Amino acid sequence: MTVVTGELTGPLPVISTAGLTKHYGTVHALTDLTVDVGDGVTGLVGANGAGKSTLIKILLGLLEPTAGHAHVLGHDIEEHSQEIRRLVGYMPEHDCLPPDVSASDFVVHMARMSGLGASAARERAADVLRHVGLDEERYRPMGGYSTGMKQRAKLAQALAHDPRLVFLDEPTNGLDPAARTDMLRLVQRIGNDFGIAVLVTSHLLGELEQVSDHVIVLDGGHLLRSSATGEFLERTGSLLVEVVGTETERDRLGEALARHGLTCRPRGTMVAVDPPPPGLAEGGAAHDLIRDVAAELGLGLMRLQPDRRHLEDVFLEGGTRA
Ligand SMILES: Nc1ncnc2c1ncn2[C@@H]1O[C@H](COP(=O)(O)OP(=O)(O)OP(=O)(O)O)[C@@H](O)[C@H]1O
Ligand SMILES: [Mg+2]
Repeated sequence: MTVVTGELTGPLPVISTAGLTKHYGTVHALTDLTVDVGDGVTGLVGANGAGKSTLIKILLGLLEPTAGHAHVLGHDIEEHSQEIRRLVGYMPEHDCLPPDVSASDFVVHMARMSGLGASAARERAADVLRHVGLDEERYRPMGGYSTGMKQRAKLAQALAHDPRLVFLDEPTNGLDPAARTDMLRLVQRIGNDFGIAVLVTSHLLGELEQVSDHVIVLDGGHLLRSSATGEFLERTGSLLVEVVGTETERDRLGEALARHGLTCRPRGTMVAVDPPPPGLAEGGAAHDLIRDVAAELGLGLMRLQPDRRHLEDVFLEGGTRA
């Protein structure tokens, strides 16, 4: 008997596409997309019209690709779309909630449609509505909900049948900053604590870098980049320094560091120090120098940390694609 172990073959990707292409008439929404998605939280980033929702709808079997292939949880999207929909939850981008039904009745209904019995569906609905933070309001008709409550109800129905993977299409759309943070924490918990793989879209790169293990960037239907989030946020070799006090103190520090051979520039209330020259680059010598110079000047050191690139920078660099 031949035993094929996971170590030899590697874990099966949650989603795998090969040459996926979608044209709507003359509009090229997706072009030759070949990408793999693994477990955990994967952010799908792109500007309006980049092809994010089109990709999700193709993976769900709601749209037919013009060319190419894809597998979701090992199932071919063209042959097994019904099986895929059994295993996958979907939070659509646009409002899809019946206004005269309560969130509680709606989620019970969705769970029953997925095959759960009456009492299991009620239990499951109560659980997911609690997880998404809809309390007493879950008994009110959804037509009267705020945008934040509607987004939570949409998320709850996506989780109703205990899926293995969820597609969350712009879950933070229309939310205020505090509600955005709550929603992002929830997305992260779904991926990390509940063990459900998540593909989450947004056009705000900064918010996806906070919660995603992996980020895929689409630009005009083309794959711009697919990498672990840590690789996007790779260190630049520069340092960020902040001292207690006004801009005058900040500038005094910058000038003193420059006299010791470090190239400095102001960045807001901080001093950004370019990668140190040889001699100061090794063994934390630059860190020691900054600490000593701040102490000599009598300045309180508040922050001394590596500067990291952010997704916005990667996206802007990528925007030069021919
Ligand atoms: N049914 C359709 N018919 C014609 N063109 C379409 C259709 N759906 C989408 N498109 C076009 O395909 C492209 C990709 O659209 P898609 O909705 O997938 O982008 P998106 O990344 O989800 O954008 P958004 O951030 O605005 O939701 C856009 O140019 C859009 O206008
Ligand atoms: Mg969209």
